[in-house]
Amino acid sequence: MPLNQDVLWYKDAIIYQVHVRTFFDSNGDGIGDFPGLEQKLGYLQELGINAIWLMPFFPSPLRDDGYDIAEYTTVHSAYGTLDDFRKLLESAHNRGIRVIIEMVLNHTSDQHPWFQESRSSRHNPRRDWYVWSDTDERYKGTRIIFLDTEKSNWAWDPISKAYYWHRFFSHQPDLNYDNPAVREQMWKVMSFWLEMGVDGFRLDAVPYLVEREGTNCENLPETHEVLKDLRRRLDEQFPGRMLLAEANQWPADLRPYFADGNEFHMAFHFPLMPRMFMGLKLEDRKPITEILQQTPEIPPSCQWSLFLRNHDELTLEMVTDMERDYMYDTYAENKTMRLNLGIRRRLAPLLENDRRRIELMNGLLMSLPGTPIVYYGDEIGMGDNINLGDRNGVRTPMQWSGGWNAGFSTAEPDRLYAPLIQNPVYGYPAVNVLSQLGSEHSLLRWMQRMIMVRASTAVFGRGSIEFLRPANHRILAYVRRLGKEAVLAVNNLSGAAQAVELDLKKYKGNILIEMSGKNIFPRVGEQPYLLTLGPYQFFWFRLRRI
Ligand code: NOJ
Ligand code: CA
Repeated sequence: MPLNQDVLWYKDAIIYQVHVRTFFDSNGDGIGDFPGLEQKLGYLQELGINAIWLMPFFPSPLRDDGYDIAEYTTVHSAYGTLDDFRKLLESAHNRGIRVIIEMVLNHTSDQHPWFQESRSSRHNPRRDWYVWSDTDERYKGTRIIFLDTEKSNWAWDPISKAYYWHRFFSHQPDLNYDNPAVREQMWKVMSFWLEMGVDGFRLDAVPYLVEREGTNCENLPETHEVLKDLRRRLDEQFPGRMLLAEANQWPADLRPYFADGNEFHMAFHFPLMPRMFMGLKLEDRKPITEILQQTPEIPPSCQWSLFLRNHDELTLEMVTDMERDYMYDTYAENKTMRLNLGIRRRLAPLLENDRRRIELMNGLLMSLPGTPIVYYGDEIGMGDNINLGDRNGVRTPMQWSGGWNAGFSTAEPDRLYAPLIQNPVYGYPAVNVLSQLGSEHSLLRWMQRMIMVRASTAVFGRGSIEFLRPANHRILAYVRRLGKEAVLAVNNLSGAAQAVELDLKKYKGNILIEMSGKNIFPRVGEQPYLLTLGPYQFFWFRLRRI
């Protein structure tokens, strides 16, 4: 399968997020690796995705699972060699799968030689590559992100007897983007991977690049300048590649990351995600429609990226205090499930393993405006392990089969980088790829079909959205349109059957074709269009004038 050559390919993408170490171990050392992932590309192709996003795979002390990079232009030896990475890239491209990699611009590991030099003396030429201060009183208006671990954004360095700035863990010193040498160096790093052929970057933690006194040190104009400069160079030298922003911000603060179509191609829609879970729990469409109405228009070449879960806690930063309390009460009653401002659980356990709710949420993910990202393992309904620290409970080995180590590795079970999920409901004998492939009715088979349906039209990735406002507020209904194509999505957010009358006057004379079964529903007439939906049921209909 050749790669889609359209420069807007990311609009038609369905992205699969995966950490190399979690996926498949090819050499039996207990750690997933590039050759292992390469062997599983067929699985991903069959799933129907057309891009993968790889979490950081660079040399690292792994104190933040690789988001603490100690060298930017090679790979961690546990995952293989640079040649293994090249092979993976080539094989993915041969299968029509694009490869997006992670790039952490904001900070490095304290083990990075740049930081080692910088801290070695106040006169070292690299001193100014990081943000140093004689007091910890500067930038007081800045929030702390890893609230459960860090008390300050400054850390004392006993070697050079000064404080250094860090927005995340204290072992992740922030680079100094006021220094042109740093900006030059980071572009060099990005070009290294672009020249090798990667299709894009997820740029980590972009709101925090620059600090200024008297501000909250987030989303500053100076930060946007740095990012625009990277984009300018990308367009000049590597047209067709993509930048995806990790900016956990409110819609109004997110909008500038798209600028005039000259900063990011894509950005995660952080505020939408928790509101999908809220809408479901409240059995009310309001949280979802409200946030999408507050979401500003973005330039035509830009795209939102949507997700239900990822490798971090389900973040509750972009909700009000009341909404956060509600989310904690309903989705993380047990306090060990909470971390920082979020909930460290996977999709299936969050939804109490209710197949109907899992399907509905995936249906929303794939029909609301944007590019969906599926987190590895969620396509089979994997569980989590809240007894593992930090966010490790949602990063356990992929469950391929009910056999030895879930088919993930031939190592002794004690050597796996993390224990497998073992409990009776989510453990690998119960939840695994092999058994789900064998059953037409499994979640995995359902996901394959839905992805295929989604990919059968460009309307979901590129179309406009118009909400219908039926009196029944438990129903979320919208029409996606692109050129002559129109798709109506109707979602029942409630656990009881519902009837709804939809105002489809605009589409009078159209028939409705249900997209997964291709059956024809009655023609739209003068009267409101009546539909009934079972608990958590949803429909996608093509509207056709025949
Ligand atoms: C965001 C990443 O998603 C998270 O996993 C990481 O810990 C922080 N950025 C720091 O890099
Ligand atoms: Ca291995």
